[in-house]
Amino acid sequence: MTDTASDFGYAHRHLLGIEGVKAEEISFLLDLSDGYVELNRGESKKSSLLRGRTIINLFFENSTRTRTSFELAGKRLGGDVINMSVAASSIKKGETLIDTAMTLNAMHPDVLVVRHPESGAVELLSEKVNCAVINAGDGSHEHPTQALLDAVTIRRRRGRLAGLRVAICGDITHSRVARSNIHLLKTMGAELRVIAPPTLLPAAISEMGVEVFFDMRRGLEDCDIVMMLRLQTERMQGSFVPSTREYFHFFGLDRDKLQAAKPDALVMHPGPMNRGVEIDSDLADDLHRSVIREQVEMGVAVRMACLDALTHGLRGNNRPPLETAAVRD
Ligand code: NCD
Repeated sequence: MTDTASDFGYAHRHLLGIEGVKAEEISFLLDLSDGYVELNRGESKKSSLLRGRTIINLFFENSTRTRTSFELAGKRLGGDVINMSVAASSIKKGETLIDTAMTLNAMHPDVLVVRHPESGAVELLSEKVNCAVINAGDGSHEHPTQALLDAVTIRRRRGRLAGLRVAICGDITHSRVARSNIHLLKTMGAELRVIAPPTLLPAAISEMGVEVFFDMRRGLEDCDIVMMLRLQTERMQGSFVPSTREYFHFFGLDRDKLQAAKPDALVMHPGPMNRGVEIDSDLADDLHRSVIREQVEMGVAVRMACLDALTHGLRGNNRPPLETAAVRD
């Protein structure tokens, strides 16, 4: 990640991952997101902050909520947004990742939002272009805006991140969401647990400063936050769980297992959910416990904050003061 001098709070040219981002920078992005939550809840959701800027969503992998929320975020800030689903176009004609990047770069975009099935592909692409790059998920490596939106959701509900006991449960091995969340929540002072069958835990996980559990009830004990993960079957080569039924029995979140956590523990899931596999369907919809819909709402605000920070933070050109940024125009 390239450090650059900035008068503002996020001092990098790109957002490729949470690893290496400082606590003050994370807090800056979360504060900025809070302002955009208010803008999005108002009647007029439009700002002119990105007027004249071009954002290209370059998705080499399917996505619904992430792509839509980046599109909405760019449009609400007044930017021009173009969506490219590359699986369906040039890659099929044999064009490489770098060729695609160079072609788009020649059109002078201001931000490229990139999702790719290979870990490290987004960073490689960022080295070849002149604009800011946001990683919208690369393989099982990182998904920084997901971790930021999870953090905004938690902080708005609990008022803080430091000192909270958070359990991340399920397919840790294949999850970029888990990795970004571990980096973020550790940096912000939370206590991290991971709960999974041994087949879905990477060998080096304890080096990330998390406590490992193989049993849901023990791992969930006194947790403030229960973060469930999807079984990422598209990234599995071979069989990692005996059957989805057995997986739900041992590792699916239901009301019975949730009793081990704090009585007011929040249930989270990045989506898309496999109902009845990693989470009980009824519990997922229980608005007293589940903040899954709120996570989606926060996603738009966080992506607005990231687009704002990367286009104005770096160059520092005529950015309105932080407190009025969200309500301009
Ligand atoms: C996550 C992803 O794509 O990594 N989803 C998302 O961005 N909302 C998690 C997942 O696909 O399970």
